[in-house]
Amino acid sequence: MSNDPILQALAVQSRVCASFGSAFYGGLLERAAADLTADARALFAPWSDQSDAAVVDAAVALRFLGALHDLALSGDDAALTAAFPPSATDPGDAWRAACRAIAAHGPRLSAFMAHEPQTNEVRRSACLLPGFLTIAALTGLPLACLELGASAGLNQLWRRYRYDYGEAGSWGDPASPLALSAVWTGTAPPLATPISVAATAACDRKPINLADPAQRRRLRAYLWPDQTERIARFDAAVAMAVAAGVAVEAADAADWVRVRAAPREGLVTVVFHSIFWQYLPPATATAIRAALAAHGAAAGRTAPLAWLRMEPAEGSPAPIELRLTLWPGGEDRQLAVVQAHGATVEWR
Ligand SMILES: C[S@@+](CC[C@H](N)C(=O)[O-])C[C@H]1O[C@@H](n2cnc3c(N)ncnc32)[C@H](O)[C@@H]1O
Repeated sequence: MSNDPILQALAVQSRVCASFGSAFYGGLLERAAADLTADARALFAPWSDQSDAAVVDAAVALRFLGALHDLALSGDDAALTAAFPPSATDPGDAWRAACRAIAAHGPRLSAFMAHEPQTNEVRRSACLLPGFLTIAALTGLPLACLELGASAGLNQLWRRYRYDYGEAGSWGDPASPLALSAVWTGTAPPLATPISVAATAACDRKPINLADPAQRRRLRAYLWPDQTERIARFDAAVAMAVAAGVAVEAADAADWVRVRAAPREGLVTVVFHSIFWQYLPPATATAIRAALAAHGAAAGRTAPLAWLRMEPAEGSPAPIELRLTLWPGGEDRQLAVVQAHGATVEWR
């Protein structure tokens, strides 16, 4: 494999896309990694002098795919639209159309890539749910949930979705417009635990407003266009979020945690996030940890603090873990190893 971090990132993401069921993106990125044109290379200029790890954390390949898909969805480059699903699925044709589109729309694509991916993957709720239930079981208290990096806030509606874990059981309203299924392995999930949620709020440094067609298209663009089931889940969740008036506050997560996550008597304060941590500058990550530790020091048995996160294991892009820290005490435990889009939960 090439030593060039950008080409490596494209090649690695190509294999991830293929193994996650997107043959189209697998093939498109394979071609990009093998034959990156000068125009396409210019899109990656902001990361050209960065380390391999920084390029991986910045998810440059997903930014690139999102920018191309957004252009295809817009219809502003008819040839690209015609070469992308649902119109066509041949990665070779798509890469040729993409090269022409990149030459014609470079600044627009660069502008799209400037922000980190805002994928709002609703099936991650199938991984978070057993975490919320574990917190309810451990504390016996109602939850006050605070989500960091919530994007459009689709995972704010986790209580309204139906979950199917095969033989491990199911949870939630059987009549929910959105049913999420995940393959469960390991000991049985704590699905029978009584749970109540007293309050819920979310922040993002750049929340997606679902009422704005351009922002909604941006969010859709992060889906992989040949993954039709994922797109259907997304559409159902967006309809539910719009109907429910889901709100995400515009705020930097470090400031928000400092102000909002103080323990509250009679509730367990739950700070949670999914696929968010890798995008933080080190200073912001340190500030969030410090704020949680300070709030944790003030936590008590009747006012505990929980930090639940679905993120890559520290210092490595894989595996993705569901991890819980609970104060008072600050005991930290790995609850599960999960698939990045929520397809599998390996409960520990
Ligand atoms: C990949 S998305 C994940 C969205 C959602 N958590 C999910 O799992 O579907 C990461 C989100 O983190 C947000 N983000 C990044 N840095 C942030 C910060 N310092 N404060 C708040 N949000 C931030 C981004 O704007 C983006 O919406």
